[in-house]
Parts: sequence; structure tokens; C-alpha cells
Amino acid sequence: MLDVKLFHMKSFLPMPYEEALAPRLKHAHEKLQNASGAGGEFTGWVHLPRSYDRAEFARIKQVAAKIQHDSQALVVIGIGGSYLGARGVIDCLCSPNYNLKKKDTPNVYFAGNGLSADALQEILELVEGVDFSVNVISKSGTTTEPAVAFRFFREALEKKYGKEGAKGRIYATTDKSRGALKSLADAEGWETFVVPDDVGGRYSVLTAVGLLPIAVAGVDIDALMRGAAQMMDRCAEASYDCPAWRYAAIRYELYRSGRSVELLACYDPAFRFMLEWWKQLYGESEGKDDKGLFPASVEFTADLHSMGQYIQEGKRLMFETVVRLGASEHRLAVPRDEADGDGLNFLAGTDMDFIRDRAMEGTLLAHTEGGVPNIIVEADGKTAEGLGQLIYFFEYACGLSGYLLDVNPFDQPGVEAYKKNMFALLGKPGYEDRKADLEAKLAE
Ligand code: PA5
Repeated sequence: MLDVKLFHMKSFLPMPYEEALAPRLKHAHEKLQNASGAGGEFTGWVHLPRSYDRAEFARIKQVAAKIQHDSQALVVIGIGGSYLGARGVIDCLCSPNYNLKKKDTPNVYFAGNGLSADALQEILELVEGVDFSVNVISKSGTTTEPAVAFRFFREALEKKYGKEGAKGRIYATTDKSRGALKSLADAEGWETFVVPDDVGGRYSVLTAVGLLPIAVAGVDIDALMRGAAQMMDRCAEASYDCPAWRYAAIRYELYRSGRSVELLACYDPAFRFMLEWWKQLYGESEGKDDKGLFPASVEFTADLHSMGQYIQEGKRLMFETVVRLGASEHRLAVPRDEADGDGLNFLAGTDMDFIRDRAMEGTLLAHTEGGVPNIIVEADGKTAEGLGQLIYFFEYACGLSGYLLDVNPFDQPGVEAYKKNMFALLGKPGYEDRKADLEAKLAE
């Protein structure tokens, strides 16, 4: 089972804080459990791992099997919470090189998560000449980036298979009754999956939003949900026995003691998009009302050769949270070289995991001595079950953290500012006044 450990934390937080903070954590916990805090209408994810819609879950598996059978590629169109979780889990469990691997499951391409014409064109070319399906995902059904990308892929599908043929290859994951995507899907007869009303985008990876693409890539989604349910049971306990309490408490105390950046670190490149998922989860949940830790990420040991310098000796802004995924799938021993020109024969026969773990210990000691506090999250392995635990753990700790900061962890009002400007500058009807104003400012 996942665990949270503090590394030499006493030198950074000499006072015991647990007892004093416990009543506030309990209060935050009750708000999550009873949906009674700010944004309580978006806490459906709290009980989701045990209460999810079994019929929809079975349909996800059926459709995933159909896509595996009739498609060589699945294009997943979505942005933010409508893509990062699926990408994180697929990269982590199937490899960041999943699409390059020999396998009997379809390639999975992610589109609609930006506005780059080149990125879009590349995926359009990658699916040319192969059988493919599209899963368009948008809770609101109105987000510009995925809606624009979907136009291109829908056109490509209809050109290839005709309108009727394309119909059987488009899957829309959206609100159960509202939004442009839902209306379009109903009008066109596309199969739909539901983003529950009470689950916001960045907390939705364990709904159809994440589960359909994850299942298409061949991940055992039963095991993923089982892991999440195990962690949900742990988090139902209102005490420091719950790892999410320990994590939320220490990061809050570090924040209060003046730290402003949390670096989430991992020693496995396959975890890169889980880091991205975590950044969105914490950034959008906490970063408001002039509050919140800035969530950043590093991928060790690669970033020890770039960001490592700043972490060791730069401005003392941050603390680190290191996710340890445990033993690698493969045992690789360093080869012996008779000439020993690189002087590395002292490592000949040594397992790569052993070397990685010593690098990690060395880094923990160096960074701590350099004034950077370290938290360790010991995951329960790089498996679907272990990742299910980790996802729920981070979500629950995020909800607790938001309430400790006294912000609503389930809204994202700040995201609207760029959208309004972009719509105005693009000439969207209704934004005329703003357009003139912005253009004048741009010309200054
Ligand atoms: O967490 C959130 O709610 C957001 O980041 C959304 O996931 C993101 O903006 C995409 O929204 P939608 O799914 O409505 O297209």
C-alpha cells in the first residue's frame, strides 16, 4: 500500500504540527466526505471508486474491445483534465514509446490539446491509411481546442468511411445532457459516455474520460479502480494513518513556512505525463485568491543535469516530493568491459535499479543539505492497481489541501481570462468592445 515518508524534515519544521493541524484536516475531510465545502457539488469523485456506474463501465470495456478489433489507431481529442490522466496512465503503464511498440492494441494519439497546426497535421498524417476511431472528450462540450481539432478528424473519418461508417467510429465523452458536443452527438447518433455532473475535469481520470482510452491501450481498468477503491477506504479514515492527510499536512506547513514551489520528482521517464496530470490537478485546484504552491515537476536523473543546479544552490523557494515507483519490470545488470576505459567496472554486474536507488538517496541527502525539504511518496508499484491508489491519493490530498488554504479546490475561474481575450481577438460575435480595447493595447 502507498505510503508517505518525510526525509530529515525536523531540520526544516522543528515544531510538531500534526496535533495543531488535525482539527482543520478533520474539517476539510468532512467537507470532502459530505460534499459540504466550497464546490461540494463537484466531489462525486470522492466515492466514485466504489459507486461508479457498473453498466457504463461494462460498456467502456465493450467499446474498447470493439476499437481494438476495428481500429489500428485511436485519436483522443481533449485538453486539460479531458486528456492528461489518460495520457499519464498509458505512458506510465504501457510506455511513453507505446505507439512505437509491437503490440496487438491500437496506437493512441492525443490531439486537441493545443492550437498547433503542425501537431494536428502530424496526427492527421499518422492516421492516414490506417483504420482509426476518434474519442472526443469535453465535459463542457464547448472548449475551443478540442472542438477545432474534432472538425478535422471528423472530416477525415467521413471522407474515409462515409457519414454512416464514420458514425460507428466516433465516441463522444461529455455531459449527460448539456453542451454543444452532447447535442451534436445526439443529432448525429454517435455513441456517448458520461462525465458525471459531480466530477470536474481534473478529477475525472477514473470516469469514461480516462477509462476508455486507457482500456483501448490494454490496461486493466478493473485493477485501476480496485487500487483507487483501496485508497478511498484508507482516506475515509479521519486520521494521520491516511497518507493523504500526512501529505496534505506537510505541504501545507511547508507553504506556511515560506516555501512557494513544490517540485514533484520521479526517477522514471514513463511517469512524465503523470507529473503533468498532477500539475494540472494542484495548479488549478489551489492557485487562486493569491494563494497556493506553484506545482512544478522534474524528471530525475535527467533533470539533475539541468534543474539540479538550481535546486541545489538557487533561490530557496521549493520543496520536493519524490514519487518512488518501486522495482522496475526489467532486471538489467551493467556489462563488464575488459578494457574498463570508462572506469566503470566497479559497477559491472550491478542491477540498474540498485544504481538508480543510490542516485536517489544521494540526491535526497544533497538536496536536503542544500536546504530543500523532501517528502517521499512510496507508490505500491508501477501497476494498474498501484497507479489507481496513487491517483486517488493525490486527488484526496488535493481536496484537503484546497480546504486547508480556504479556497474552492473545484473551480478554475482564472482559466476564463485568456479565453475571453482569444475569442475577442478572433472576432467571436458578442466580444466586439473587448476586441477594440485589446487591439489598442497590443498596438501600444
Ligand atoms: O479541470 C478542469 O475542469 C479543466 O482543466 C478542464 O478539464 C479543461 O478545461 C477541459 O474542459 P472540457 O472537458 O470542458 O473541454
